[in-house]
Amino acid sequence: MQAKLSDLGMRQRPSDITRLMTFALEQPNMLSLAAGFTDNESLPIEDVREIVEEIADSGAMGKTTLQYGANKGRDRLRSLLAKRIRSFDTIDESHLDEKNLFISNGSQQALYLAIQTLCDPGDFVLVEQPTYFVFLEILQGFGVNALAMPMREDGEIDLAGLERLLSQFESEGNLDKVKALYLVSYFSNPSGHCVSEKVKSDIGSLLSRQKEPIAVIEDAAYRELYYENPFDSRSGLALESFNHLPVLYTSTLTKPYASGLKVGYSYCSDTNWLNSMLNVKGQQDFGTANFAQAIVEHALASGRFDAHLNSLRGLYKSKMLTLHESLGESLKSLGWKWEEPAGGLYLWLKSPNGMRTDGESPFHSSCIENGVFYVPGNLCFPGNEDRSRIRLSFGSLNLEDIREAALRFVAAAASMTDSAIA
Ligand SMILES: Cc1ncc(COP(=O)(O)O)c(C=O)c1O
Repeated sequence: MQAKLSDLGMRQRPSDITRLMTFALEQPNMLSLAAGFTDNESLPIEDVREIVEEIADSGAMGKTTLQYGANKGRDRLRSLLAKRIRSFDTIDESHLDEKNLFISNGSQQALYLAIQTLCDPGDFVLVEQPTYFVFLEILQGFGVNALAMPMREDGEIDLAGLERLLSQFESEGNLDKVKALYLVSYFSNPSGHCVSEKVKSDIGSLLSRQKEPIAVIEDAAYRELYYENPFDSRSGLALESFNHLPVLYTSTLTKPYASGLKVGYSYCSDTNWLNSMLNVKGQQDFGTANFAQAIVEHALASGRFDAHLNSLRGLYKSKMLTLHESLGESLKSLGWKWEEPAGGLYLWLKSPNGMRTDGESPFHSSCIENGVFYVPGNLCFPGNEDRSRIRLSFGSLNLEDIREAALRFVAAAASMTDSAIA
């Protein structure tokens, strides 16, 4: 006899990427440019060894790190992170009070809590095209519709188009079903794009004019992973046009420090929404692992976090350039297009003449035959519309493997062009 699942249970389906990766990993000698993993070699194991020793030597206080902690997270960590956001956004405590900041099991948990507490099945969440594909999976899991925002050629949101879309929902009496707008605002996964402060500010004004509250979820997971300079745009938390909107700002200590510690953090400007998320978090885990939080807290307070992050910036820049240059002119001459990002972990490619790159395409099979694996870009579009895009991640492979993976990718691309000509 099989368990009788809930509607939510029955809606769940294996994520496309997990399916594809399981398949790819079964292939011997596969080089994966797919997973958004961080660099293996540089993981800060020596930092963590020292920190654990310091914690162990700190007596009773140290011992409590192995005890359950508060649902919202460790006070000192929350205070350090609130200070960090204030300094990025040049705002003071009156703008950003740490009582509205909580720690989660990665920022992924915060995204899940946000949708769980805002949306019912059949509701809508506005998303960029492309967007973070695991967020699309959360929406699908809750039976919530991802509503694609019209985009401009330069990758920014088309505000006039968005306004028309919202008016259409209003005239159909469905505006109350549009619950949130999700933005991956810094060095986006997958496109590397950053949302300018002007566009962000205009989004705030547009949403503030609506008759129904539409929350903003600003996902700043890659904000600190710039290569040379931070992207010059404050978050929505600092913008006047966001003052009267419910805003959730999420970020993470995984990508810029140690993904295995899985500590994320969020600031929510709306106390009612925040309390609801915390109540659900209380039911899910009543607190993120206290020990993992204590480690990142020590790393932040001692300056180790920033020292490590600084070294990662140069490292990811060199990895990005290695992939970019190894794909190089040979791929460009075949008609492929991409831009060099200024931060993050991904290159976002467009195939020539709209050639299909999705998981069922001949190009995808050709890459697998050549021993290289990527994320089909269609997974990053609500409705899978654009089948000519590819996300390549340079986070986890070493430089030599990146070069080899690029050679294999170019060989697959060349063979497809040859067969297209033949
Ligand atoms: C855009 C974006 N948001 C959120 C996350 C979740 O990261 P974590 O749960 O490690 O904080 C990721 C992870 O890849 C991401 O790419």
